Amino acid sequence: MSVVALVPAAGRGERLGYGMAKALVPVNGVPLLVRAVRGLLDAGCVQHVVVAAPPSDVDTMCTVTASLASAGGAVHVLAGGAERTDSVRLALEYALREIPDTRIVLVHDAARAFTPGEVVRRVVEAVEAGRPAVIPVLPMADTVKQVDAGGVVVATPDRSALRIVQTPQGFTADVLLRAHASGVRATDDAGLVERLGVAVTTVAGHPNAMKITTPFDLAVAEALLTGGTT
Ligand code: CTP
Ligand code: MG
Repeated sequence: MSVVALVPAAGRGERLGYGMAKALVPVNGVPLLVRAVRGLLDAGCVQHVVVAAPPSDVDTMCTVTASLASAGGAVHVLAGGAERTDSVRLALEYALREIPDTRIVLVHDAARAFTPGEVVRRVVEAVEAGRPAVIPVLPMADTVKQVDAGGVVVATPDRSALRIVQTPQGFTADVLLRAHASGVRATDDAGLVERLGVAVTTVAGHPNAMKITTPFDLAVAEALLTGGTT
């Protein structure tokens, strides 16, 4: 029975502004995708990684990840879709078709390239312990306001009840399949599972599992590496 990690990496990285797929952008010479896939395999509890690549970058992403496969872990690359949800659904369909013993499925953004192995293990252990859907989270440091279309504040949610959501998110394969069968698009897979009425539980995330979205985030990642904390 396998733990399979789906890695949506088919985004264009427009906010980062490198004019290339964000997953191929190097940090200290190593592409984000390589760091993300290596981190999953090094966690020691993932047997297969399925990468959803931009259609024009499938060959490149095959090449850069080829050396990461080992006796303990295989890497597969396929063409992703127009939106993140489409990329995840295509990778899930591939996994269920080609990896017959798929039991637990993680979904992990290539852009969260510095996620520590402890977060991956916490998520897998919670699904193995019987939770159908598990997400890593952090407490909110900032106060959050809800505003209307004109930017006027309409509510101040209680910060103590809010969490920042990270990946990998972990699911039993059947729950993730049912969630994606709805055809709804979402920025986060757990959001689709919530719509099914299935409980989503939380485990502790980690600041290093931040998503690299902007040049500022990339500079933070480079500083983390220079500081020797990843
Ligand atoms: N992603 C994907 N398929 C898409 C769009 C996004 O697999 N059609 C992936 C990205 O590659 C990334 C993750 O989903 O790993 C989170 O998306 P985001 O941070 O928005 O990345 P990009 O879409 O690449 O960035 P931008 O929105 O700035 O273009
Ligand atoms: Mg995007």
